[in-house]
Amino acid sequence: MINPDLSDKFKSQFPVISPSMLKCDFGNLHREIELLEMAEAPALHWDVMDGNFVPNLSYGALLIERIRPLTQMFFDAHLMISNPEKYIEDYINAGCDSITIHIEAAPNPKDLLEHLAQSRVLPGLAISPETSLNLIEPYLEYCGLVLVMSVEPGFGGQSFIKSSLQKIRQLKAMISDDTILSVDGGIGMETIAETASAGANYFVVGSAIFNQTDYSTAVRELAQKARSDSASFT
Ligand code: DX5
Ligand code: ZN
Repeated sequence: MINPDLSDKFKSQFPVISPSMLKCDFGNLHREIELLEMAEAPALHWDVMDGNFVPNLSYGALLIERIRPLTQMFFDAHLMISNPEKYIEDYINAGCDSITIHIEAAPNPKDLLEHLAQSRVLPGLAISPETSLNLIEPYLEYCGLVLVMSVEPGFGGQSFIKSSLQKIRQLKAMISDDTILSVDGGIGMETIAETASAGANYFVVGSAIFNQTDYSTAVRELAQKARSDSASFT
């Protein structure tokens, strides 16, 4: 059983809007977190990039560990790094609630996913746009969360890749109802309803929150759009 308490925490809150901290104002990180708490975002998404798996660098476990005591919000780490097995313990110790690794970086992730579950961390597996679902299928039963990248990983502010919708639909039919289905990249008011309709229930959002002056309005409107308009696409 994969940490039922963590999965249950979200069920009552679907659709979850999880701000991608890659796009926040790092000069005012504590204030940004306070504003997102006031906006009632249930989770924070931490994009970790190593300049190797993706052509960009961001931040690592040390930063997450220092931020951890500042808030009770769910910490969702997205590791866009090569050799995640080398570093995973650092992210567990940093206090992440969920840790998502990429199938392209860990082609046989069973042991890592099981280790996360044993460590009381929600195990997540991400898939990049060009990667076939066949590669993750054998490992879905070990996942508490599956993340569909709807842009090429590495940068915020890119346009949503339309073919991700079909991938989300197919994946929805492959996973259990208990598995969180996350979508990440190019999610905003124009794209969130379609992705919700395709089956996503957890939405990572960078630009569409941080480019707004009022995060509360952005988070509320995105959640409303995911909830209400999704029916019109089914
Ligand atoms: C991209 C990251 C995303 C990204 C989302 O590699 O995984 O989380 O920052 O940003 P937007 O919403 O701007 O596409
Ligand atoms: Zn991400």
